[in-house]
Amino acid sequence: MTDPLFASSLVGRTALITGGSRGIGRVLAESLARVGVRVVFTGRDPRALDETLAALRAAGTSGAGLPLELSELDDPAPVAQALREHTDRLDILVLNAAIGGVRTPIVEQPLATWREVFQVNVHACLALLMATDPLLRRSDAGRVVFISTGVARRRKATTGAYAASKAAFEMMAGLYCLDVEGSPIRGNIVNPGPTRTEMRAAAFPAEDPMTVKPPEALMPLLHRLCAPECDLHGQTLDADDWIASQSSR
Ligand SMILES: NC(=O)c1ccc[n+]([C@@H]2O[C@H](COP(=O)([O-])OP(=O)(O)OC[C@H]3O[C@@H](n4cnc5c(N)ncnc54)[C@H](OP(=O)(O)O)[C@@H]3O)[C@@H](O)[C@H]2O)c1
Repeated sequence: MTDPLFASSLVGRTALITGGSRGIGRVLAESLARVGVRVVFTGRDPRALDETLAALRAAGTSGAGLPLELSELDDPAPVAQALREHTDRLDILVLNAAIGGVRTPIVEQPLATWREVFQVNVHACLALLMATDPLLRRSDAGRVVFISTGVARRRKATTGAYAASKAAFEMMAGLYCLDVEGSPIRGNIVNPGPTRTEMRAAAFPAEDPMTVKPPEALMPLLHRLCAPECDLHGQTLDADDWIASQSSR
């Protein structure tokens, strides 16, 4: 699943993945654990957190599941404190957790949902960046991966708060990339493209999930962006294009 070059350089690194309890985040947490990364991950559902942690331990690494409700996160300090109980340095941050909101014409978006989507997809992510930046700066090669979506840049009817919040998330990511220039931190945005998860199934209930790629297909790109050798910075990468370019090599 991973280029052996990157797998060896990931051994012993420490990662924080938001939304590691299911979907893309969970597959990433387990796959990084298998190559020797110590993974701290967040989610809400206690049973899913326990299951992911058991899978990480079975993969042979230590790790931790942090219960975190992003719709209520407005202060970086408690997260920073909880993280410091697990690590004094962060090599990898993957801001992955997000919610999709509801699909309606823009003037029919319920304002309460709009606010919640911006809270989870933007404001909580900024609080997490604030909480983790000091730990990333202690790494010799901090890597940040911002998981976004194609509709952040491509207008698509009824994508509402999800698209607007991801556009704001991408701007936040880009500004962070400017701020860390001159440091060893490298940050990049990834659009995973259609991927077989609960979020995709909720957004496209009529779609046969087996026609959509599994999260595992994203792992080579994500591992590469997490590795200390990665010198890409400030890029927005479309995973499907990257996967196609790799298979045609
Ligand atoms: N799947 C796709 O086709 C697709 C396409 C483009 C972009 N993306 C992006 O890829 C990323 C991952 O998506 P996914 O498809 O893997 O989603 P998913 O299967 O719905 O998983 C979402 C994860 O985020 C966590 N989460 C959601 N709301 C939360 C909240 N309020 N507080 C704390 N944690 C919360 C969930 O934890 P709980 O278990 O606690 O709910 C879960 O671990 C997202 O940024 C999404 O926008 C996905």
